[in-house]
Amino acid sequence: DLCIESFIDKEIERIRQIVGKDGEVVGAVSGGVDSTVAAKLMKEAIGDRFHAILVDNGVMRLNECATVHSYLHSHLKINLRVVDASDKFLSRLKGVTDPEKKRKIIGNTFIEVFEEEAAKIDEVTKKSGRKSIEYLLQGTLYPDVIESVSFKGPSAVIKTHHNVGGLLQDMKLKLIEPLRELFKGTCETMCLMVSLLANVAAALLHSWFSSNSITFGHALASSHLPICQKDEVRKLGKVLSLPDDLIYRHPFPGPGIAIRILGEVTPEQVAIARAADHIYIEEIKKAGLYREIAQAYAALLPVKAVGVMGDKRTYEQVIVLRAVETTDFMTADWYDFPRAILKKISNKIINEVKGVNRVVYDISSKPPATIEWY
Ligand code: XMP
Repeated sequence: DLCIESFIDKEIERIRQIVGKDGEVVGAVSGGVDSTVAAKLMKEAIGDRFHAILVDNGVMRLNECATVHSYLHSHLKINLRVVDASDKFLSRLKGVTDPEKKRKIIGNTFIEVFEEEAAKIDEVTKKSGRKSIEYLLQGTLYPDVIESVSFKGPSAVIKTHHNVGGLLQDMKLKLIEPLRELFKGTCETMCLMVSLLANVAAALLHSWFSSNSITFGHALASSHLPICQKDEVRKLGKVLSLPDDLIYRHPFPGPGIAIRILGEVTPEQVAIARAADHIYIEEIKKAGLYREIAQAYAALLPVKAVGVMGDKRTYEQVIVLRAVETTDFMTADWYDFPRAILKKISNKIINEVKGVNRVVYDISSKPPATIEWY
């Protein structure tokens, strides 16, 4: 893809010009496709003078840290540090049930841990006679910017944990955002225009023919995010030799499974939510449906349901499965699984995850429901 290759060449050159021959850059990675593409571009441009930091917040998916470490460090050879701060996050989440409070605690703790780690790296680089860290990498996409200013509710606070403003001020870091440049060239603008027209046409058709009462205003608002944007990042990922599993990963919220555990986040609840989610996603992959679904996860409800075991009643927890189809994440439809797959997933979760005796499937569209439960 010529367009993508020339973007990569230009971007690498631009980064080298900005950072210079001896500049040092720090950046957070999550294992998501956006931050990984940005990190890989940075690595291609300046090698080990880019320091990536992965913060283990204790609410990532099962084996997530090890998986991301192997993708980024072993496969992509990115200079990566993993910081295990799970105890710090989990102790601060103790007793907290309000989702927005959870988001704030996770966001603030993330910034604190990231800053501490960046300062440590800075000390080491200075001691070895190299320059102080001058730049902060951010894998921002254009729609992130639009979304963070134009929507209330969960979306409005999405970016709070990415806000490393303190770091920018305290360490006087300057921001570098490679993905921001993705739509500035001519062919990218064409792509944006075509996508925008297609989205507006789809929105019009949807509002004229839809039997549910989505207004034109809402449909149009939801069309702001160009379909090709994520595709373009994925194409970039392909050209940059990112593994397919990483390129096609479903998005995962910054506050992780803390917002998928309704009620208090305890290590026991984390273990249940993780185990159920892992079984669910593995079964989706085995059935060859992972790429058809835009986002899927298991959430843990804060209620106990009655069950029966032998001649005794049991009171155990409820897992809810969510899977949606969407191109823009602003509107979404629930995914229509074959019955046999749901049955297999449900049996497996109930048999293998201790503490769960009931599995339900979420059949709500967005709007009015959101993709996350919290
Ligand atoms: P909703 O639930 O608003 O989600 O339909 C839309 C998309 O945003 C993600 N999401 C988040 N991502 N921090 C994030 O990084 C958050 O607090 C957050 N809340 C929702 C959600 O997973 C979906 O992809």
